[in-house]
Amino acid sequence: MKLMVTGAAGRLGGKLLTVLAAQGHEVTGSDIVGDNIARLDIGDFEATRKFVDDLRPDAIVHPAGWTDVDGCAKDPEKAIAINGFGTQHVALAAANIGVAVLYISSNEVFDGASGRPYREYDLPNPINPYAYSKWVGERALVNINPKHYIVRTAWLFAHGGKNFIQAILNAAQAGKRLRVVTDEVGNPTYNDDLAEAIGKLLETGRYGIYHFVNEGVCSRYEFARYFLDKAGYKDTPTEKISAAEWQRASLPPAYAAMSNLAGKHIGITLRPWQEAVDDFLAKEGLLK
Ligand SMILES: NC(=O)c1ccc[n+]([C@@H]2O[C@H](COP(=O)([O-])OP(=O)(O)OC[C@H]3O[C@@H](n4cnc5c(N)ncnc54)[C@H](OP(=O)(O)O)[C@@H]3O)[C@@H](O)[C@H]2O)c1
Repeated sequence: MKLMVTGAAGRLGGKLLTVLAAQGHEVTGSDIVGDNIARLDIGDFEATRKFVDDLRPDAIVHPAGWTDVDGCAKDPEKAIAINGFGTQHVALAAANIGVAVLYISSNEVFDGASGRPYREYDLPNPINPYAYSKWVGERALVNINPKHYIVRTAWLFAHGGKNFIQAILNAAQAGKRLRVVTDEVGNPTYNDDLAEAIGKLLETGRYGIYHFVNEGVCSRYEFARYFLDKAGYKDTPTEKISAAEWQRASLPPAYAAMSNLAGKHIGITLRPWQEAVDDFLAKEGLLK
């Protein structure tokens, strides 16, 4: 297929360029930043429409977005302009030439009050501006373009970018005091596993909503303890704190774990998060 990838300078977008090309697709990346990537601001409707018209891809994979969750809390209008209306622009441009969009959304669209992993067709109820903007993007795509995949994911860790694992390990190495929340629960997900799963989904034509996260559920604290132990920091103390003690601009949903029912139904599953973390640490040369 001829594929267009938005946000191609980002963590997931960058990995998708490699994975999709390795699958034999002809891939064109676009972003507002990055080297050797076509410039496209999805916030600009006319530019988006022209880009898609000129390229005429068979499908658009759309991970671009403003992913600074605390930034979104401080500037909710900008969040909606990029994540919500930017996705509307991509959906309209694709519908105009009759092709599908695969949009990357977030576990944060759920309010975190369920107490059990969210399924694909549970009702979202976003409780912060980033989550709301991602939900606006979902609604726009569903309403505009029947050829859609919505892939919700969570807690991504990726090579070469900012991520929770590197931040905690850097702090441990620097001898800083570690404090990690126990009452935020989710699914740690390896960027590389997610990109592979997206590649498989694109081949299916099975439009709908998917929860692509590594198998298993844990708290931020359990996640941190797992990789600290694996990376040789068994004796480094970690203080358990509540989310209320970790002051930040955005309120994350407390229990935003998801289950991957729709993917399993068509044979697309991701391995347990612990195996994925081991693999990530090994590739980073950090597994002890
Ligand atoms: N990371 C996570 O834990 C996580 C969890 C759940 C869902 N997601 C979703 O997964 C997707 C990919 O996440 P990621 O971690 O790969 O994010 P990322 O590294 O921040 O990549 C997003 C890319 O989109 C670009 N972008 C921002 N505004 C744009 C615009 N107006 N037009 C075109 N491109 C624009 C960003 O540029 P700048 O860097 O200049 O902003 C960046 O290169 C996002 O949609 C995110 O909401 C992520």
